[in-house]
Amino acid sequence: MKIRAAITGIGGYVPPTVLSNQDLEKMVDTTDEWIMARTGIRERRILRGEGQGASVMIIEAVKQLLERKNLDPLDVDMLIVGTVTPDHVFPSTSNIVTAALGMKNAWGFDLSAACSGFLYSLVTAAQFIETGRYKKVIVVGADKMSAIIDYTDRTTCVIFGDGCGAVLLEPSADENGIQDFMLHADGNGLQHLHMKAGGSAWPSTAETVDKKMHFVYQEGQAVYKHAVYNMAEVSANIMERNNLKADDVAYLLAHQANKRIIDATASRMGIGSEKVLMNIERYGNTTSGTIPLLMWDYEKQLKKGDNLILSAFGGGFTWGAIYLRWSYDTN
Ligand code: UT7
Repeated sequence: MKIRAAITGIGGYVPPTVLSNQDLEKMVDTTDEWIMARTGIRERRILRGEGQGASVMIIEAVKQLLERKNLDPLDVDMLIVGTVTPDHVFPSTSNIVTAALGMKNAWGFDLSAACSGFLYSLVTAAQFIETGRYKKVIVVGADKMSAIIDYTDRTTCVIFGDGCGAVLLEPSADENGIQDFMLHADGNGLQHLHMKAGGSAWPSTAETVDKKMHFVYQEGQAVYKHAVYNMAEVSANIMERNNLKADDVAYLLAHQANKRIIDATASRMGIGSEKVLMNIERYGNTTSGTIPLLMWDYEKQLKKGDNLILSAFGGGFTWGAIYLRWSYDTN
């Protein structure tokens, strides 16, 4: 029988500091009404403190996951971290976390796919389970977007927030688990959404800092257009390939970038709003963090055997969808 990879546990973490729309009204020329109407975001979380990188959130989320699963850190085979805000360019944030939590038998890496980071990481991890090579792989989606956001730019600072979710992937005991995936990339998207400096093309200098080249650059409308089309298409396509009708889908867990993009995706899939899991209002766009944070928030609502569609679109461009059958009930 084919080995399937199943999510068997979840941990999550969002920092305690809340940045509300009212706070942003005092920082840039914006209003709560504009932000709510255009994005559906009311507040987001910010990780404060000097020297506090994404690993701070990941350690908390993975610790919670290990505790909930009563899992010995020595039994973890691998840790994949989807992020575009690693603690350092190198070494990987995965290494920092495995050392901090005593996962001495695990190896891993960071995976850069922007808002599709969790989907790419989950699919990558699943390959190691499906081949039979590994039994316990932790997959993280984490971003500290506040580290790369210009809080004088109203077009980006209202959207993003910090947060992290972590899942345990194990061989499924039954037919549940990851059933199918469709992942895509188009490097031509770079022009519309990127961070200019800090990599090898534009190493950090006083000039790159002066020119604000270390912040997210986004052409909102262009990204919006591509996001609406591609996230909707890939979500509908994966349903079609697996003969899933709207009634067969229990929930859509879509990347939380903009409520309007999620609504368009649900409409293309033909599913009602009661099947669309949302937490964008409270966390904003946490990039790689959004989908595992949805699982973290809605874990109790998910039932064994539920057909879930996960879908995302983000910088790169990267996008895709996963069809997975949920594999446990929460007591
Ligand atoms: O997760 C990674 C992928 N990213 C995304 O999926 C984001 C995709 N893009 C979007 O979600 C939307 O494009 C935004 C939320 C970024 C912007 O919404 P929009 O409806 O596309 O607004 P717009 O850029 O067309 O701007 C409309 C107006 C402009 O003013 P004028 O030129 O019409 O006078 C903007 O300057 O709204 C203005 N504006 C704002 N006004 C108040 C832009 N940002 C703000 C703001 N507050 N924060």
